[in-house]
Amino acid sequence: MRWGRRPAALEEAPSVERTGIELRDVVHSYGDRTVLTGVSLTLTERRVGVIGANGSGKSTFARLLNGLVLPTEGTVLVDGLDTATRAREVRRRVGFVFQDPDAQIVHPTVAEDLAFGPTNQGVPADEIERRVADVLDRYGLAGHRDHPAHLLSGGQKQLLAIAGVLVMRPERIVFDEPTTLLDLANARRVARVIEELPQDVVVVSHHLELLDGFDRVLVFEDGRVAADGPPAETVPWYTARMG
Ligand SMILES: Nc1ncnc2c1ncn2[C@@H]1O[C@H](COP(=O)(O)OP(=O)(O)O)[C@@H](O)[C@H]1O
Ligand SMILES: [Mg+2]
Repeated sequence: MRWGRRPAALEEAPSVERTGIELRDVVHSYGDRTVLTGVSLTLTERRVGVIGANGSGKSTFARLLNGLVLPTEGTVLVDGLDTATRAREVRRRVGFVFQDPDAQIVHPTVAEDLAFGPTNQGVPADEIERRVADVLDRYGLAGHRDHPAHLLSGGQKQLLAIAGVLVMRPERIVFDEPTTLLDLANARRVARVIEELPQDVVVVSHHLELLDGFDRVLVFEDGRVAADGPPAETVPWYTARMG
């Protein structure tokens, strides 16, 4: 795939190739409770969906992909970088958008919130200014620049959370149920925004229509990948199984 602009992470580590996200025999337990077992797969597609019942392990899986959660057994590699030992580089490569944007909004105003991530990455102030102006404009938030982030609508907050990840220029973005808390119109808007992203994405969702046109959909069941294939096969399989 070609990128319009070279992501910062690649400029930093030119020797690392984009080989995808690989999970090898991954097990995850919270205390003595095992919630993921025997997960081995490589994600190289542009659009990967993740579905499954509540409690099946989707969020745990999603968080493993950028090192927010580390495997209890096995290995997760992002472009060959072990999430357990190369956390900083991994986080730069893989952004994460939470279901609840309030979990992600940490600064009082919209513009300050957007500047937070790239400031942490050591991006120069004038470049941050450019990136922030760009995403505000793109998501129709320019008029809210100096407004308190917590006063935005639910849909605007989710766009702000996505924008807050984009300003860090990751190569891939993981979304954990990005539309679950939104009304239909905002859910559609966020779905469109995801669809138009140049980045590779992994999207956990209960909105199955959001996954139309995806390259691959994983179905989780009791901490295992129960089905894995194009959405035209896996989505009907899942809905039939759910009765
Ligand atoms: N921090 C945690 N501590 C203990 N158990 C957890 C924690 N997070 C999730 N779990 C449990 O792990 C299982 C899988 O959860 P999760 O990955 O959130 O699944 P999903 O996103 O599919 O609902 C559930 O039974 C959940 O209760
Ligand atoms: Mg979840």
